Amino acid sequence: MEADRGVQLRAWVEYYRDLGVYDFYRRGEAGEGGIASNPAPEDEVLEIVQSAVVASPPVAVPSGLVARIRPPDISVVSTTSGEMATRLVSFDSLAPLPASSVPIDQRAAALRALRKEIGDCTRCPLAYAGRKKIVFGDGSPGARLMFVGEGPGADEDAQGVPFVGKAGQLLNNMISAMGLQREDVYIANIVKCRPPGNRVPEPVEANTCSQFLLKQVDIIRPQVIVALGSTAATYLLGVKQSLSGLRGRWHSCRGAKLAVTYHPAFLLRDPRQKGEAWKDLQMVMAEMGLKSPARK
Ligand code: URA
Repeated sequence: MEADRGVQLRAWVEYYRDLGVYDFYRRGEAGEGGIASNPAPEDEVLEIVQSAVVASPPVAVPSGLVARIRPPDISVVSTTSGEMATRLVSFDSLAPLPASSVPIDQRAAALRALRKEIGDCTRCPLAYAGRKKIVFGDGSPGARLMFVGEGPGADEDAQGVPFVGKAGQLLNNMISAMGLQREDVYIANIVKCRPPGNRVPEPVEANTCSQFLLKQVDIIRPQVIVALGSTAATYLLGVKQSLSGLRGRWHSCRGAKLAVTYHPAFLLRDPRQKGEAWKDLQMVMAEMGLKSPARK
């Protein structure tokens, strides 16, 4: 019980660190290993966390489908070198799955309401980093298959639609090869605003934005999610692991089966890996009972 409380408090500390509240986290750093090896007494941590809750700007937690967004239930992990691993928030631990799914004829409206809730978002630093359009998502609200990328690039930022540039053309081809059309699937990204220079989203950006992708997944309830590249896999699964360690097997995310494959932008840079990506997609097709057009 006491141990659980300690883990939970530590989860709060990590959560606030991801939100950019660092001060309490530095306690105990004087030695080495920070809070993990020299934890502040629990009461002290609780006090600091409580004052951080009051002092920090509120994180907008939309009401509706997902009843309660809470800090993750995570235990402390350290790398083999003894360093603290980057804290990530997995979608599965972010909120309980809604008890019932949104009826298919109400999903489009639910997605529109969610888009309205996001508004002209200023919840994370990407709002001030030159974004032109918020890229919400694209495709069928009734999709059985969902693709998740990293974040919008220049073309997507200009048009407000995910995967419309060169990587998007390749993704369209991948979808066609699976015997589907782009309109049949749903496409979204970990972050909805373009990171400057197409850099990888920072944890605070991804963790702030993920609540909305989480809700999109919960509205659509796809049978299968394909994580495109390492950033999508990292935040959907809450683990930071090499793609090679994650590909070729099933994971789970919000009641869906999740497969990991290469990001189309990576495949454009290294087309020799297209065969490997095709193997990943074939695993998805087998699960969904899809046949490629040539074999129909
Ligand atoms: N890359 C992504 O990860 N997402 C897009 O929408 C476009 C390119």
